[in-house]
Amino acid sequence: KKAVLAYSGGLDTSIIVRWLIEEYGCEVIAFSADLGQGQELDGIPEKARKTGASKCYVEDLREEFVRDFVFPMFRANAIYEGRYFLGTSIARPLISKKQMEIALAEEADAVCHGATGKGNDQVRFELAYYHFNPEIKIIAPWREWDLNSREALIAYANKHGIPVPVTKKRPWSSDRNLLHISFEGGILENPWAEPPEEMYLLSVAPEEAPDKPEYVEIEFRNGDPVAINGQALSPAQLLAHLNELGGKHGIGRADIMENRFVGMKSRGVYETPGGTILEEAHRGVEQITMDREVLNLRDSLIPRYATMVYNGFWFAPEREAMQALTDETQKTVNGVARVKLYKGHCRVVGRKSDTNSLFDPEVATFEADEVYNQADAEGFIRLNALRLRIRSAMQKKRG
Ligand code: ARG
Ligand code: SIN
Repeated sequence: KKAVLAYSGGLDTSIIVRWLIEEYGCEVIAFSADLGQGQELDGIPEKARKTGASKCYVEDLREEFVRDFVFPMFRANAIYEGRYFLGTSIARPLISKKQMEIALAEEADAVCHGATGKGNDQVRFELAYYHFNPEIKIIAPWREWDLNSREALIAYANKHGIPVPVTKKRPWSSDRNLLHISFEGGILENPWAEPPEEMYLLSVAPEEAPDKPEYVEIEFRNGDPVAINGQALSPAQLLAHLNELGGKHGIGRADIMENRFVGMKSRGVYETPGGTILEEAHRGVEQITMDREVLNLRDSLIPRYATMVYNGFWFAPEREAMQALTDETQKTVNGVARVKLYKGHCRVVGRKSDTNSLFDPEVATFEADEVYNQADAEGFIRLNALRLRIRSAMQKKRG
């Protein structure tokens, strides 16, 4: 018997390798996705094999992650509950997809993940697993075992000779990729307590950011960013570069109470430096290139699109339909936004589009013009006022 495990190299998934061998007597194939989490992947295959895995796949998915998951989501300007850029949510479907490919190639009987039974991640992993193989056997150790405390996990690790990391204590859990890093749990479970400054890894404190603003120009084609300051970059390179710029200026921190799909509120703290700049710049180009009603329609769908991603319905007909509509709206989104970065904030201060600008200075000007007859506005307003006038007259008559 064989199981493919989504493996991070941390204590929890290391314990899972051992636990699968003990409880299910199966061969364990570890799989780690490189989504831009940085050094966390160093030495992963050695570690996995030492813990008992028979094989370990490490796949560099950075370009695919940004190109086929992050960018489509940003075309929709998806933000969950007005604050969360969905950095963890959007990574799970891709991890699951690759894990299922490996399961197929390895003729594995089961797939396994290290998400708890209380969170969103279990849902995201498993909805995607079922999409790729409706008959797949799923093992979620957190829903089965009784290792329900740090102490129990460490005791299990010690018993089975699994090294427990002795690194400096960071009393919260985190998840990092090219889009963001998230922090949850531990000392953050007190919603009143401000997170300690040393928790943040991608950004300086806005107070410590440079006193001089910096400008960045981002070019978009069909709603996707393609170049920074005139230099074409691949999706992953571009996002990495924006992360650096945003981090340097303290941009993209969020501290929120969010609603998990399973029904509980949870405190989450996020750093999304590049994504925050990207959304601002994207809006800037949309504002000058998108038709008012198209923009309005797309904006009305943001909460629904975001909820689909958050709840794990990426490989789902409703998300695909919404994506098709979104992508249609982005055909005109070609142009450049100039964004000013300064002490935790970013703001579009210039925008242009050579091919798709709907802004007509001839029409908009306060000076005399030929195309817009101001006298037309009188009838326009009177007809729009018709309902209001009838209502008012009725109210007056009734007294
Ligand atoms: N609350 C966020 C979300 O649901 C972040 C989850 C972080 N996951 C983790 N395994 N640390 O998307
Ligand atoms: C977990 O519970 O495994 C992490 C948090 C979440 O999935 O929401």
